[in-house]
Amino acid sequence: MKYDIKDIKLADKGRLRIEWAEQNMPVLRLIRERFRKQKPLKGLRVACCLHVTTETANLMETLKAGGAEVRLCASNPLSTQDDVAASLVKHTKIGVYAVRAENNKTYYKHINAVLENKPQITIDDGADLVSALHKSKTGATDGIWAGLEETTTGVIRLRAMAKEGVLKFPMIAINDSETKHFFDNRYGTGQSTIDGILRATNHLIAGSRVVICGYGWCGRGVATRARGMGADVIVCEVEPVKALEAVMDGFRVMPLMQAAKLGDVFITLTGDIHVLRKEHFLKMKDGALVANSGHFNVEIDIEALEKMSTKKRAMRHEVEEYTLKGGKRIHLLGQGRLINLAAAEGHPAMVMDMSFANQALGVEYVMKNRGKLGLGVYPMPEKIDKEIARLKLKSLGVKIDTLTPEQKEYLAAWQMGT
Ligand SMILES: NC(=O)c1ccc[n+]([C@@H]2O[C@H](COP(=O)([O-])OP(=O)(O)OC[C@H]3O[C@@H](n4cnc5c(N)ncnc54)[C@H](O)[C@@H]3O)[C@@H](O)[C@H]2O)c1
Repeated sequence: MKYDIKDIKLADKGRLRIEWAEQNMPVLRLIRERFRKQKPLKGLRVACCLHVTTETANLMETLKAGGAEVRLCASNPLSTQDDVAASLVKHTKIGVYAVRAENNKTYYKHINAVLENKPQITIDDGADLVSALHKSKTGATDGIWAGLEETTTGVIRLRAMAKEGVLKFPMIAINDSETKHFFDNRYGTGQSTIDGILRATNHLIAGSRVVICGYGWCGRGVATRARGMGADVIVCEVEPVKALEAVMDGFRVMPLMQAAKLGDVFITLTGDIHVLRKEHFLKMKDGALVANSGHFNVEIDIEALEKMSTKKRAMRHEVEEYTLKGGKRIHLLGQGRLINLAAAEGHPAMVMDMSFANQALGVEYVMKNRGKLGLGVYPMPEKIDKEIARLKLKSLGVKIDTLTPEQKEYLAAWQMGT
């Protein structure tokens, strides 16, 4: 078995952390047990490009239990947990190609190594595998049945490919499952982004002015958590409905040029490019903290910050201090990469349980329906989405009501009024 990881000696430490996450992934555990007995993925080759975390390790073990042959590379150069990569190689016998802080060249070399195995199904977090397959000129997409996509940015890229008519195999947008984005993007990113900022800086959130750029699923989550910890939260948006929602949720909403003067902490969660840029850095207070939790490291214009600076120092792990002309300091966290994975451990297992239940059942769904899916980007079937929610509630010991026959009839009818 081939692999490329930092150090196999880290495996036993990784194993304990993977088991720790497993304890909070009851839905995925149930799926794994069934997969182990039924082997629905027997003989399947799956290529995965995901953050190499303890939760991802549990997904890898589930796919393997189902009979799949799996290879894994990182979906971000800075999100790999080297002990987890080592344990997956040593204990689960999975070919992992990921080293924390690998450079861009190695990142893409690892993507190609995973694709060398001629996968039938791809799993992406950001669409890098799909993009690499489509850029290759050697018929690399020929044997692929379908791909699955984990995050908002990946789904946006895939829809752009579908619109241009270049997408060569069907894609399942796992992100669009309600049991994914309602929970992972909102509660997962909400908590782990703050966790990353705290671990990097030990900053006091209470009394801080926190500027949130983007009030989508992730932005809402972070804004709510920051307020809960006592921050004065300002929201910046470009969509009028989202901005209005933020106003009605009780946040101050204003243009970023105005917020730039006020903020102590800035967090981008937009999936957009150069949201924080030169004109904003010029307005910021001395000592401002700047972080990104959107998928790619393009939301903060780091190149502009570099050009404007006369001095740069690594102040702490994942904190870089840039001194601008005139002496003002701006602190960039986690090199502008997803701060929850660069400086913390990513989302808690409790929430990834649902995201990865979607991935595991998504792979099984593609296996069962191969050849029947047309080109395009599809959501997971609603039935599976609801089943994941039902299992999660059950694992939490929460029971809910059911519709009476009369209510079912009423809700399906139009005749009855007041
Ligand atoms: N950190 C993580 O672990 C994690 C988890 C899930 C998703 N993500 C990523 O976070 C990003 C946001 O995801 P989401 O699900 O919240 O998406 P979303 O589409 O729900 O929200 C994005 C919001 O940003 C706004 N926006 C776009 N450009 C803007 C700009 N220039 N200024 C201000 N607002 C702007 C949009 O109007 C939208 O409301 C994506 O890149 C996604 O892939 C990260």
